[in-house]
Amino acid sequence: MAIVSSQSPQERPAGGRAPLLQPQANTPEMPPGEDTLRPQRLADYLGQTELKQVLRIALAAAQSRAEALDHLLLYGPPGLGKTTLALILAAELGVQCRVTSAPALERPRDIVGLLVNLQPRDVLFIDEIHRLPRVTEEILYSAMEDFRLDITLGKGQSARSRSLPLPRFTLVGATTRVGALSSPLRDRFGLVQRLRFYQVAELQPILARAAQILQVDLTPEGAAEIARRARGTPRIANRLLKRVRDYAQVQQVSPITADLAAAALELLEVDPRGLDWTDRKLLGILIEQYGGGPAGLDTLAAMTGEDPQTIEDVYEPYLMQIGYLQRTPRGRVATPLAWQHLGFTPPESQLMLLSGNEGTGL
Ligand SMILES: Nc1ncnc2c1ncn2[C@@H]1O[C@H](COP(=O)(O)OP(=O)(O)O)[C@@H](O)[C@H]1O
Ligand SMILES: [Mg+2]
Repeated sequence: MAIVSSQSPQERPAGGRAPLLQPQANTPEMPPGEDTLRPQRLADYLGQTELKQVLRIALAAAQSRAEALDHLLLYGPPGLGKTTLALILAAELGVQCRVTSAPALERPRDIVGLLVNLQPRDVLFIDEIHRLPRVTEEILYSAMEDFRLDITLGKGQSARSRSLPLPRFTLVGATTRVGALSSPLRDRFGLVQRLRFYQVAELQPILARAAQILQVDLTPEGAAEIARRARGTPRIANRLLKRVRDYAQVQQVSPITADLAAAALELLEVDPRGLDWTDRKLLGILIEQYGGGPAGLDTLAAMTGEDPQTIEDVYEPYLMQIGYLQRTPRGRVATPLAWQHLGFTPPESQLMLLSGNEGTGL
């Protein structure tokens, strides 16, 4: 599989192409340093069993018909493996994956440049697809549905419409907020799949694999300790492993045991449930200043100094998953589990408010 950034020289159309067709400003959204740990094939993509099953069937069907895979929308919190999966699908199909992100597709020519360079069955990956500008989104409608590029050249009286055929390709979109997608766009995806938080038992083999690649000696108990503190998220698990490795190196201890991992992560203020400073601040404000809630998102954002969207997309999903936080029509509420975790006793009124409504934990 080749990952093609539209800025690479071999991809620039040979001279003489209309400037409209020049791809611009498509930076692959891949944080540096993550590549070595990113699995390349479906067999190395651990966990997400049901999702993989759906995709295996779709892949097999597409391959037996020698067709492009259906357009696929992946949604879920950051770090669960959306980008990784898009790259893997291209690898499994034996095609190129062109990677871009919605904010980079500001002008029509940005998306046009990518579309006209697609080969049959290629994967076009658009990250943060809920942030597509309107014009780009409209170009995608006919590209996705009819594999045609409908564009208007020029302005006013001299404007001409053109329609060009495109090869059959697969659009893979990723988003943390599926609710922010317009329904015409969402409806054009044949497959819409959610990524779930990983169980501790699913993160353990991910950590074992990462340890092997990073050449660190990690005991199964050490892996479990890191996994418990990784908020159900492979990206966080890998990040914590690297920090624990540093700690072990400085202390000159090997292998990484549960105690060592716990000590290293305490130092980083990652608590036994994986909550960090901001999580505890968020719950602490709810409990200490609002009697457990409800409190509005904007209030919490102002008081923690975080952006409301980050709270909603990054912090809250995990807190809700482990049953520490609930979204109610009147605002956010800390559950009795959250009170207990932070060392408080929940008042009677709070128990009544939420009775029988707690989350399941991981
Ligand atoms: N299922 C998985 N198995 C193994 N590692 C994974 C898996 N999902 C994610 N990762 C690891 O987590 C990192 C972040 O995943 P990524 O696909 O970038 O998440 P997202 O795009 O959903 O934010 C990857 O670089 C990879 O190392
Ligand atoms: Mg991503």
